[in-house]
Amino acid sequence: MDHNLLSCLPEALLPWYDAGHRELPWREDKDPYHIWVSEIMLQQTRVEAVKGYYARFLQALPTVTALAECDDDALHKLWEGLGYYNRVRNMKKTARQIVDKHDGIFPDTYEQVLALPGIGAYTAGAICSIAYNQPIPAVDGNVLRVISRITDDHTPIDLPAYKNTVQQNLAEIYPDRAGDFTQALMELGATVCGPNRQPDCENCPCKAFCLGFVRKTAVNLPIKLPKRERKTEEKTVFILSCDGKYAIQKRPAQGLLAGLWQFPNVPGKLNTQAFLKQVERFGLKSKEIKLKVERKHIFTHIEWDMCGVYIELAECGGDFVWLTAERIDKEIALPTAFRQFWEEISTGKN
Ligand code: ADE
Repeated sequence: MDHNLLSCLPEALLPWYDAGHRELPWREDKDPYHIWVSEIMLQQTRVEAVKGYYARFLQALPTVTALAECDDDALHKLWEGLGYYNRVRNMKKTARQIVDKHDGIFPDTYEQVLALPGIGAYTAGAICSIAYNQPIPAVDGNVLRVISRITDDHTPIDLPAYKNTVQQNLAEIYPDRAGDFTQALMELGATVCGPNRQPDCENCPCKAFCLGFVRKTAVNLPIKLPKRERKTEEKTVFILSCDGKYAIQKRPAQGLLAGLWQFPNVPGKLNTQAFLKQVERFGLKSKEIKLKVERKHIFTHIEWDMCGVYIELAECGGDFVWLTAERIDKEIALPTAFRQFWEEISTGKN
């Protein structure tokens, strides 16, 4: 990797960052706990979507100790809709470890931070550079895109060896203002050199030395390995109501959406006769079919193709928890895959 090219970055990026950048809630202070929470939320979730979650999470759990002691259902509720719930389960484990091994004080060496569960090189780099101003890069997809364009590198960015190379090479050119440089690289990757669109090279602080700009290859970079195909699973989801209450159940403690709540569901998209039969199998008696809708939900490796049926019952029962709409909204972490049906019926459900 061309060291001379990369060494131009701090001088180009820091003045550009200083001249104006997005004001984001996690840029308001340098508390390592805050940086950690924001970085975990920002993995796989858009900045705009994260803002509200970030504020709510820190209000409910202002310290590592509060997170370590948080009840799992309450924690899932704070994360509801963000997806990738393992992220927050790992955060609680990590918080416990910080309480047990570091007296509740966030560790401040890269080795110690990296040793925490659920914290990889990217997150450790972000925490150490942003919170502690240590010269350690935080290499995520944004940064890989920027570097592959600047160096006109056609190596697939999802190869772990490529990420390591970028990490090592960037570490060598890190300036004194380490935290600002990490943020500036992220800012460039999120704005001017953003994903899935033509980069705004005319307004880029790196255009004087960017090989992707000079050679007009930037638009076709980065190169990515072909994605694994997703498997599709069909499901029928039952929104069963009776006396203003709705049937929910907890998902198993292991596997996809572990420990979260769901509406009762069975494999396959059932026709009317079959889903009425299924209601009987649940040990329940249908009164009225109120709505039937189709919805999809895409996870990383799987897609759910679902048919949702909203049925009024003659009486509550079966092996379910029955709760009012108000309690479901306030207390229950219902993943988006199921919540979309809830939102669909929300008019007139009370
Ligand atoms: N994406 C990932 N981390 C980020 C951060 N700290 N600020 C803005 N966007 C980000």
